[in-house]
Parts: sequence; structure tokens; C-alpha cells
Amino acid sequence: MKIGVVGAGYVGLVTATGLAEMGHKVTCVENDDEKIVLLQAGTCPIHEAGLEESIKDCQSQSTLSFVKDISSALEDTELMIIAVGTPPSEDGSADLRALFDVATQIAHLMNHDLVVAIKSTVPVGTAAKVETLMRKVLDTRQCHAKCLVASNPEFLKEGTALTDFRRPDRIVIGSNHPTAVGVLRSAYSHFVRRQMRIIEVSRESAELGKYAANAMLAIRISLMNELSALAEHEGADIEEIRLIVGSDRRIGPDFLYAGPGFGGSCFPKDLRALSAVGNRARIPTDLINSVISVNDRQKQLIPSKLAELLQLPRKATCAVWGLAFKPETADTREAPSVNLISLLLNHGVRVQVFDPVVRHIDSISDDNLTWCSSQYEAASGADALVLMTEWKMFRSPDFHLLKNIMAGNILFDARNIWDHDAARRTGFRYFGIGRKL
Ligand code: UGA
Repeated sequence: MKIGVVGAGYVGLVTATGLAEMGHKVTCVENDDEKIVLLQAGTCPIHEAGLEESIKDCQSQSTLSFVKDISSALEDTELMIIAVGTPPSEDGSADLRALFDVATQIAHLMNHDLVVAIKSTVPVGTAAKVETLMRKVLDTRQCHAKCLVASNPEFLKEGTALTDFRRPDRIVIGSNHPTAVGVLRSAYSHFVRRQMRIIEVSRESAELGKYAANAMLAIRISLMNELSALAEHEGADIEEIRLIVGSDRRIGPDFLYAGPGFGGSCFPKDLRALSAVGNRARIPTDLINSVISVNDRQKQLIPSKLAELLQLPRKATCAVWGLAFKPETADTREAPSVNLISLLLNHGVRVQVFDPVVRHIDSISDDNLTWCSSQYEAASGADALVLMTEWKMFRSPDFHLLKNIMAGNILFDARNIWDHDAARRTGFRYFGIGRKL
């Protein structure tokens, strides 16, 4: 099948590549000049495991190509997938301008029947709105081609997005129109053949279901973060509590890890969007709102504990290991590390950072911030070391070496992954999230 994908962000790029891997002929449209040059040369602009290799493979088999304009992706195409960004507006609601713009362009250019699938995360009713908008344009053009708009949300995680695409828990097709469902089922025929779970629902359920899945995951994390404060106060250990809770088959072990607060381009944005939908509809979203505030509070936890431990304000040096909002990505959007570093710098603290892939943070430039080329260089001379992202390379640090090179003895393990007994035996003061001290 010939498929067009508009948007080469991480969702669009992974979707285009994943579909091309299955033998579809995919044209991916991207309007950013720099990105398109890179992609055409087979270079992946984002850090995502296996993606660059697969892009190159698909390009050499001519199943994947990158273009700048939508018109060249439309020729003989049965399915156009829209995967453009829907960033938050001022009130937290999803900004749909890029999506409407792409849909309008497609309606102006198409000359044959087309199924449009919206992969961007959008509020309920968006697919219906897009269909009305496109039909209006087609009517004005007196074009008789039919356009059907479906919702086809994504459930990819950064860092494992390509694997998630290849082995999805489910594929959601949101449409009540048999033609649109048929086209999407053929696009995902590989998964249909392997009898993976295809869930066919209304467009509205697909749209809300995407937000619901992210909200459920975020609720789990926030509950554990909230409990971690109680655990610490009452002399319990959140890691032991996680084992008890996660071993209940009805609950399961995933997404129960207490930490520095969730970040990334999805959970914070999607929760705010869901809350904005509730506000507009005058339907209470108390639980969602609480998750947002629990998470905001969690992001303040490490900066305020460090301020106390380091007795700020005073001259101090703090090392930070890991800047990305999670391992295996270079993404620092809404990362708790950014918040931590900004607050430390505001206190006049010298901050020495190391991350295996992040090389800059757009929002921070300060003479007191040093970018180091190794984790131990970052720790040298530091009064405190904070682990913010659980990259594999940070899992088993050499505590003896750290003791020799650091000026102070404070270790803050925001992911609860270090052997705290070993750290303490080496003479460190170890702090985690919700751990028994
Ligand atoms: C999330 C969802 O997991 C995907 O299913 C969804 O498709 C995606 O958003 C999206 O909407 O596009 P992602 O943001 O890539 O994926 O990352 P996650 O692995 O979900 O992690 C999000 C944040 O939660 C990270 O900051 C992570 O450190 C934190 N987290 C995760 C915890 O603090 N504890 C946990 O137990 C799990």
C-alpha cells in the first residue's frame, strides 16, 4: 500500500519507518529544511534505538522516502497519516493549528478518495472537525473525491519506540466507517496476520482512550511518589512497597517506580490538555488535577532537599548524572533535571553535568554550568552528586573512586537504583526517594 505520513517528529518518523519495514511504500513529509536534508541523507535527527539503521535499510529498499511538500506524498496514496505536534496552548489545551493546516492543505491538493488517520494526540471531536473542514474545502473546489477521517492514536515510548511499533500491545482504529477501517486494517495487515490486538472503536473513544492510557500511567507514578514521602516519614521503604503492590496480578509491576517526577513531551502535556477539556466542559477532573500538582511538587523535592543538605545559599558544587527525562533518549522536555539545575544555578551553585547523549539544554546557559565528558569528571570536586536519569552506565558506580574525587559525601539517587548499603559503607550519606534511612 502507498502511505503518506505528515510530520517527521518521533511519532511520525517511527510510524513511517515501521510501516516501510513491513513493505508499504511510505512517503514521509517534513517541512523543516534542516531535518529533511538529514533524513534524505539517511541520518536520523533524533536519538532513538535502531531508527537510523532502519531508515537507511528502508531507503535502500525504496520503501521509505522523505519529501518537503504534501503534494508529492499524495499521488496514488490511499492513506495519509497525520503525526504533527499538538503542543500546549496557554490554557493547557492542545494547539491544533498545525494539524488543521495540514488537513486543509491535503483537502486542497487531493484528487482521489482518501483515508486520513490522525496519529497526533488530540482532544475528543478533533477527527470529526477535521473531516468537516476537509469536506468544506473539497466542496469549494467542487472536487468529488471522498475523504474519511479516522483516529489512530499511538502508544510509543521514547527510547523503545521502534520496538513498541513492531510489537504493539494494541492498535486502535477509531472509525465507524467500513472503508476507513478496511484501509487501516490493510495498513496494519502484518499485525492482523499475527493476530495482535486490533481494537476498533468510535473516533471519540479512540481520541479519549489515548489520553486515558497516559493518565492511568501518570496516576500510578504519582501515587507512588506521594506514598514515597509517607514511607520515608513512617520508616517504610517505597521499593518494598512497590514489590508488594506490583505483585498483585490486578495491578502489575510496571509504572510503579517512585522518582523525581515524570517528564517528557507526553504525560505533563496530555494531563494539562485533559484538564483543559474538563474545564471547558465544566466537568470536574479532580484526579487529573491532583496528579499534575503531585508531580509539580515531586519536581521540587530534590532541589529543596539538596538546598537543605548543602545548607544553601553558600558556595557549593553539585554534580548531576543524567539530563534526559528518561534513558535512551536525548529529550529533555519537562525533564526534572532541567528544573533541578535551574534552581541550583539560581542559588549560585556550580553545577557539573554529564549525560551520555544530551549535549545542551536550550533554556539554560550559565557560567556556573559545566558540561563534562564523563560521569566521573562531573563528580570531581563536587559536594553532592545527584543521579537524575537511570542510564545503564550509571547503575553500578565505583563508590571508592567517587569518595576519592568528590569534595563532599552526599549522594542523591533520584531513581533508587544504587546499592545504598555499599554507598554508606564507603562513607557516603545516601539519599533516595522514599527509602528507609
Ligand atoms: C508515554 C507513554 O508511556 C506512551 O505509551 C505514550 O505513547 C507516550 O507517552 C506518548 O503519549 O507519546 P514516554 O513519554 O516516551 O511515553 O515515556 P514513559 O516511559 O512513559 O516515561 C514518562 C515519564 O515517567 C518519565 O519521566 C519516566 O522517568 C517517568 N516514570 C515512568 C516514572 O517516574 N516511574 C515509572 O514507573 C515510569
